[in-house]
Amino acid sequence: MTSFWNWYITILTLGLIAALVWLIFATRKGQRRETTDETLGHAFDGIEEYDNPLPKWWFLLFVATIVFALGYWVLYPGLGNWKGILPGYQYLDNEAQTAFATGEQGWTGVHQWEKEMAQAEAKYGPLFKKYAAMPIEQVAQDEQALKMGGRLFASNCAVCHGSDAKGAYGFPNLTDNDWLWGGEAETIKTTIMGGRQATMPAWRDVIGEEGIRHVAGYVRSLSGLKNPEDMEIDVAKGKEIFAANCAVCHGPDAKGTQAMGAPNLTDRTWLYGSSFAQVQQTLRYGRNGRMPAHEETLGNDKVHLLAAYVYSLSQQSRGE
Ligand code: HEC
Ligand code: HEC
Repeated sequence: MTSFWNWYITILTLGLIAALVWLIFATRKGQRRETTDETLGHAFDGIEEYDNPLPKWWFLLFVATIVFALGYWVLYPGLGNWKGILPGYQYLDNEAQTAFATGEQGWTGVHQWEKEMAQAEAKYGPLFKKYAAMPIEQVAQDEQALKMGGRLFASNCAVCHGSDAKGAYGFPNLTDNDWLWGGEAETIKTTIMGGRQATMPAWRDVIGEEGIRHVAGYVRSLSGLKNPEDMEIDVAKGKEIFAANCAVCHGPDAKGTQAMGAPNLTDRTWLYGSSFAQVQQTLRYGRNGRMPAHEETLGNDKVHLLAAYVYSLSQQSRGE
């Protein structure tokens, strides 16, 4: 900040505070000291105002906010170039040194954040390292590791998959041991590290509305669902269309292909809904579920813990 703006801000701010102090004391001086039944003499819709002094607590609160403001400006940056007397980010002796680990004086939000991150790294870094060196299946047996994984899940994954990891419309359930991309421990890690991009093409222009109706009927019948009777649905025709267009990805038995994230269509688990209308919608316009990559934001060690956590969630339902 140039020195002009430095002084401009400093003088303006302190001047305003001084003016407020003057205002509160000046008005108090002109007031009567004791309560009274006299009114100020004006009335709004019959409501009148007593000529009483400001309540003491109110006055003291006002003074307290002024004292607070002054104290704040001593401690924190805010007055022009003044950096405040609180120390900045202090050098921490660990591997988590950052661009701000210069020991520079002066509190800032960025320094505070960096400091907390570095402290957390100092505390948990060695633990993360320890778990990262163990196989995921083994980490998934470790209570402390699962606790840490659960916390990471809550802050990074729950927005989409839900805090119970049971998913929602368009976001897969991670506890049911039904996998789009594969449930092996290492595969789960690959999914979280690199993300996944599912491509279910749109079929409206390829097989037409009629074709969509038949194949939607066929696909639903695979899960034992009853199709609406008032629509002309030819399930046998749907089966033909499926063999010709869909089997490449979903497999001839419709049990899915994990390498492409093409779901099993026979297992009664639906990512985009099972109603006739919803399945038709899926077929008409296609679907493009995207799981974001976390390698850059979280790094290998945290993803390793997350993979163990996710793996553990489906353990109860494994082998069913
Ligand atoms: C190029 C590969 C590919 C082809 C061809 C393909 N699909 Fe898909 N399909 C996918 C993928 C991948 C998904 C998962 C989309 C997602 O997760 O967003 C999917 C999703 C679906 C779903 C949604 C399942 C659910 O759980 O909600 C249905 C239904 C479906 N496909 C039916 C079909 C039918 C019927 C055809 C043929 C007309 C077909 N697919 C052709 C790859 C394909
Ligand atoms: C922005 C939303 C979003 C966030 C955040 C997110 N995911 Fe996902 N995730 C998805 C979607 C959507 C899919 C399904 C992709 C598809 O349609 O194939 C998915 C798929 C997955 C799968 C594959 C499931 C299967 O059946 O194969 C795993 C495992 C997974 N996510 C774990 C995680 C973890 C762990 C985190 C936190 C680090 C996370 N996800 C964060 C949206 C998200």
